[in-house]
Amino acid sequence: AVVILLGPPGAGKGTQARRLEEAFGLVQLSTGDLLRAAVSQGTDAGKRAKAVMDAGGLVSDDIVLAILEDRLAQPDVIKGVILDGFPRTEAQADALDAMLAARGQKVNAAVSLDVDDAAMVERISGRYTCGGCGEGYHDSFKQPAKAGVCDNCGGTEMKRRADDNAETVGERLRAYHAQTAPLIAFYKGRGCLSSVDAMAAIDEVETDLQQIIRDAI
Ligand code: AP5
Ligand code: ZN
Repeated sequence: AVVILLGPPGAGKGTQARRLEEAFGLVQLSTGDLLRAAVSQGTDAGKRAKAVMDAGGLVSDDIVLAILEDRLAQPDVIKGVILDGFPRTEAQADALDAMLAARGQKVNAAVSLDVDDAAMVERISGRYTCGGCGEGYHDSFKQPAKAGVCDNCGGTEMKRRADDNAETVGERLRAYHAQTAPLIAFYKGRGCLSSVDAMAAIDEVETDLQQIIRDAI
């Protein structure tokens, strides 16, 4: 099955994708994570992507599609994927359809995580993750039981993203509205769009998403 989580930066795509992986046995596939890995490995694609990501713009479709295609060719994604942060342009959505058609698959559900822009700046500026296992935390909304120690793996190396600052978040929101929000109408036209109130608490959003995905796959 193929499930797409659509939503602006900070909507909770990564948080929810990680939870849904376990519930449905699907693999989270985040183009943001794949791009950050390419940047830290210093690959050609990573070098080209870095400046754009730091400025909050969208990386070019050719780089993103090459990275995604590589990832989809790996054996662990056979059962299905939760796409987190992809597609982000109509060209990416068309390319995804073609890639899936070649594998006899299609998009089963696209879910829009609906939020207020103003709240996203706060969510993103307070965010940090565990360097050991990737578990996400937030200064106000989700702290580990013991400060600085990951609930999940006991790791103590917490990281913040280079693009998680107020100025870059503004640019990322603009890019979302200009280039990605039109995909809501695109998937509505396909009859596979649902939306959830992603201003609700993390557990409630998860319950809503589970219901939608159960019905769709
Ligand atoms: P990417 O890594 O995809 O970042 P993003 O879309 O900006 O999304 P985020 O990861 O910031 O937010 P999220 O929705 O996952 O929220 P989270 O769950 O962490 O992309 C980064 C960059 O890479 C882009 O700017 C672009 O340059 C490039 N890129 C990536 N994909 C691309 C593509 N396809 N094409 C072109 N370029 C691409 O939650 C945020 C915080 O809020 C957390 O602290 C969390 O704990 C908290 N939180 C979550 N849900 C709730 C809730 N319900 N209530 C309260 N707090 C909550
Ligand atoms: Zn951890």
